[in-house]
Amino acid sequence: MIVRNVLVTGGAGYIGSHACTELLQANYRVVVVDNLSNSKAESLSRVEQITGKPVQFYQADIRDKQALTDIFSREAISTVMHFAGLKAVGESCEQPLNYYHNNVYGTLVLVEAMRDADVKQLVFSSSATVYGESVHVQYTEDFPLGPINPYGRSKAMIEDILRDLSAADTISKVQNPWKIALLRYFNPIGAHESGLIGEDPNGIPNNLMPYVSQVAIGKLAQLSVFGDDYPTRDGTGIRDYIHVVDLVKGHIKAIAALQGERFNAGACRAYNLGAGRGCSVLEIIETFERVTGKKVNYKIAPRRVGDLAECFANPERAIMELDWKVEKNLDDMVSDAWNWQKKNPEGYV
Ligand SMILES: NC(=O)c1ccc[n+]([C@@H]2O[C@H](COP(=O)([O-])OP(=O)(O)OC[C@H]3O[C@@H](n4cnc5c(N)ncnc54)[C@H](O)[C@@H]3O)[C@@H](O)[C@H]2O)c1
Repeated sequence: MIVRNVLVTGGAGYIGSHACTELLQANYRVVVVDNLSNSKAESLSRVEQITGKPVQFYQADIRDKQALTDIFSREAISTVMHFAGLKAVGESCEQPLNYYHNNVYGTLVLVEAMRDADVKQLVFSSSATVYGESVHVQYTEDFPLGPINPYGRSKAMIEDILRDLSAADTISKVQNPWKIALLRYFNPIGAHESGLIGEDPNGIPNNLMPYVSQVAIGKLAQLSVFGDDYPTRDGTGIRDYIHVVDLVKGHIKAIAALQGERFNAGACRAYNLGAGRGCSVLEIIETFERVTGKKVNYKIAPRRVGDLAECFANPERAIMELDWKVEKNLDDMVSDAWNWQKKNPEGYV
């Protein structure tokens, strides 16, 4: 069997480490480039522990063209999974330049290095934040884009750049055209069932699930639920949560799809990766309390500016074209997140 080498940028991070695990289990060889700005190399040791297989790790920044060129010349990479980036919406409003430099410029350097090495298959971590506000609550990929913060705009700019790259190849009918899957994630939560890898936020978590776990374990005093007067079934915001293992399985399916007929002549195509159903904040809390037997101390706080009442994915395109669907439910997401939190109360330290 031919072993294909996949370069995983940001592979030491939350989603990247789960992707490395899934790739190794699917018999790919994994090469990681990560600057460890928001992760620890320990996550990759844990990946090796779960899979019994090695990860080739390079500690480098994707904005370092020479470092990337060296990696491409040393490793016979066939495909790149691009997770490296900054991801906190609030921080992006305070530090827009940092976000555009890291995410947009970083991706430019990466795709230049890929082009120079003639590696033109890419699976990109995009986000549901690229969508604009809509009267519809279930998003399809052809909804107008209209991100409302610098983080979302950095993802939308990268999508534009990648679409332009692909279109240029199609016009000039090159032999090895760009094949690009833009995967728009909804809200990844949960952890690997082993409890060895999971989400390890720096400082106070920005996302709901790690916040809930840290309140339950006593690291944080209280969860604030922002708004209970939305026009939803219980008044709290509704989002589409997806188990991180289901999410990364979508990436493995995307690699396979890039080899298929749809991408034969080159293409850049977006796919929603979400469960296709929404859960409210109160439903998450209730599920957490039922599954773990732990109380979550919370209070109702005012709505946050910019938060929508409800949104969730229409994942039909990924189901049809990638032959992918979610397998895990909210109970699995919550119990795996808690298993990781209990086993690693201080994260990877
Ligand atoms: N977690 C989410 O809720 C979510 C939702 C939608 C999209 N995404 C996207 O998925 C990707 C992965 O997210 P995550 O939750 O695993 O985040 P993460 O912060 O855990 O992982 C990102 C990794 O990239 C590394 N990195 C950042 N900038 C880098 C650079 N310039 N050079 C090299 N490495 C760099 C970090 O050290 C980290 O290990 C990100 O692009 C993020 O925007 C995440």
